Amino acid sequence: EYTATREDRFTFGLWTVGWQGVDVFGGAIRPPLDPAEAIHRLAELGAYGITFHDNDVFPFGADEATKKAHLAPLRKALDETGLVVPMITTNLFSHPVFRDGGFTNNDRDVRRFALRKALDNIDLAVEMGARIFVAWGGREGAESGAAKDIRAALDRYAEAFNLLGQYVVDQGYDLRFAIEPKPNEPRGDILLPTIGHALAFINELDHPELVGLNPEVGHEEMASLNYAHGLAQALWHGKLFHADLNGQTGPRYDQDLRFGAGNARGAFWTVDILEHGGYDGPRHFDFKPPRTEDMDGVWASAEGCMRNYLILREKSRAFRADPEVQEALRLARVDQLGVPTVAEGETIEDLRAEAFDPDAAAERGMGFERLDQLALEHLYGVR
Ligand code: GCO
Ligand code: MN
Ligand code: MN
Ligand code: MN
Repeated sequence: EYTATREDRFTFGLWTVGWQGVDVFGGAIRPPLDPAEAIHRLAELGAYGITFHDNDVFPFGADEATKKAHLAPLRKALDETGLVVPMITTNLFSHPVFRDGGFTNNDRDVRRFALRKALDNIDLAVEMGARIFVAWGGREGAESGAAKDIRAALDRYAEAFNLLGQYVVDQGYDLRFAIEPKPNEPRGDILLPTIGHALAFINELDHPELVGLNPEVGHEEMASLNYAHGLAQALWHGKLFHADLNGQTGPRYDQDLRFGAGNARGAFWTVDILEHGGYDGPRHFDFKPPRTEDMDGVWASAEGCMRNYLILREKSRAFRADPEVQEALRLARVDQLGVPTVAEGETIEDLRAEAFDPDAAAERGMGFERLDQLALEHLYGVR
């Protein structure tokens, strides 16, 4: 029970279980994790696949031979375990050259270098069978006002997605981009800070159909936003290409807790929308096993992500199937919201001619408290 299987399609970034615990106040507290070992351990825990940045596998600046030497054991581990790589992403934030970002760096030479690095990684993504290319612009932003012309930066950001998108089209690649919004950290302010900003940006691109979103729980909650609502809107736009699942407690630094930790009620509604809202991509975890943990704690943390998802999936299904919930939903008129406000064939005149007693209608409450209490009781485990 609550043990993951391949069918659950759980995936993990190599940088998550491989995080050595380097933060702003201290250095590494765990040894480097060999990607092949990570693959074997995750396979044993029931994962379906892994994801990675180019430099999670081979060093920055590696030549072709070095890249091959690092990729070979990874491919072998994938063959041995049957794990897949549904998503790949590019590290445009660690090396000092990216101190002012990649695609929106003020320095044109750095922008051109960032494009080359991303192009190489697109080729690798397709080689590995990935269908999603995540773009987290962690260093695309500013700490100060005059240093960054935001409108020019957005021109360059769009230029980058247009160029990469055209490359994918010209090569005939089956690959789509997923922008990952984040409001701040490591930059004081990051461009495309929320799901909404990114959605608006995508509509200005040459190939908007190739670009969607990879929203992360913690990043939206850092902006005090409701992650499940954000997922629902992304789905409504047909833009939920991928999702980074983790835990966060309110607006503060990016905690990257294991999924289900932090805002547990938010996690319940997150699983509910992912399971019932039409998302069919992998369930991807982007978390950081806390610095307190040794490697046993890392695997416990990874397993916890999957168990919490499965527990919440069961609770969400039980909630939806509960006859009392169905009655409460009806009394709360949730079904009425699905009916167009003005029926087909009706005119503005028909609408205007309608008699309505607002005072009588205003007397009736909405019944949301009873409904939400039922949800909480499912979450708290007493129903
Ligand atoms: C963060 C982000 C990153 C990105 C990842 C992909 O915690 O700020 O989640 O972890 O998702 O690096 O580029
Ligand atoms: Mn994060
Ligand atoms: Mn992420
Ligand atoms: Mn992260």
